[in-house]
Amino acid sequence: MRGKFITFEGIEGCGKTTQIKLLDEYLRKKGFETVLSREPGGTKIGDKIRAILLDPEHKEMTPLAELFLYEASRAQHVNELINPAVESGKVILCDRFADSSAAYQSAARLLPKDLVDELNNIAIAGIKPDLTVILDINPEEGLKRAHVRGKPDRFEQEKMDFHERVRNGYLALAKKEPKRFIVINGRKTVEEIHKEIISCISSAISLK
Ligand SMILES: Nc1ncnc2c1ncn2[C@@H]1O[C@H](COP(=O)(O)OP(=O)(O)OP(=O)(O)O)[C@@H](O)[C@H]1O
Ligand SMILES: [Mg+2]
Repeated sequence: MRGKFITFEGIEGCGKTTQIKLLDEYLRKKGFETVLSREPGGTKIGDKIRAILLDPEHKEMTPLAELFLYEASRAQHVNELINPAVESGKVILCDRFADSSAAYQSAARLLPKDLVDELNNIAIAGIKPDLTVILDINPEEGLKRAHVRGKPDRFEQEKMDFHERVRNGYLALAKKEPKRFIVINGRKTVEEIHKEIISCISSAISLK
């Protein structure tokens, strides 16, 4: 039986990593075989690409180089990890996926939407998330949370209007595909958000 592919999206500090871990624990307790992954990354090659992408010293990186690096990481991830997991009936939970490129490289970096869509389509080779959770939060709050972690990465160093464009990019995607996306208010408590995610996921992937 085919498994399920669930992705988490949202701006820096919105709570993706917190919530994906909670959902992973919940699903494992329910007896599901899960795979927890992230982008950029998820593979040995992807993790090396991740380090290049997030390095705050890489100020000269062009938007196009950034896009290609994301898509290279994604192509490897889909082939090496995501497709095999879904084909073997597992639930794969991924912290960011192709929607991140639509929001960051197109809506925020302003690369042409058609270009980003086309490269995304090539990299994902037909696989689409069954469900995508967007944790929606204002950039001031998200960045404040993210900064507690320490040295800001290349994206966290961007200006507020960049993060505002990312946020709006996500909300526009959700509007276009309301069946795939769940938008949750990221300002609720960790526990409230977790419960909301479980309730949405239960109906989408028929959990017992
Ligand atoms: N609902 C919440 N309310 C208050 N604080 C939260 C909430 N969810 C997460 N946090 C805290 O905010 C910080 C950022 O959360 P987290 O790392 O999960 O965000 P993220 O979306 O994964 O960020 P990034 O995109 O930078 O990886 C953490 O310190 C976390 O404990
Ligand atoms: Mg995170």
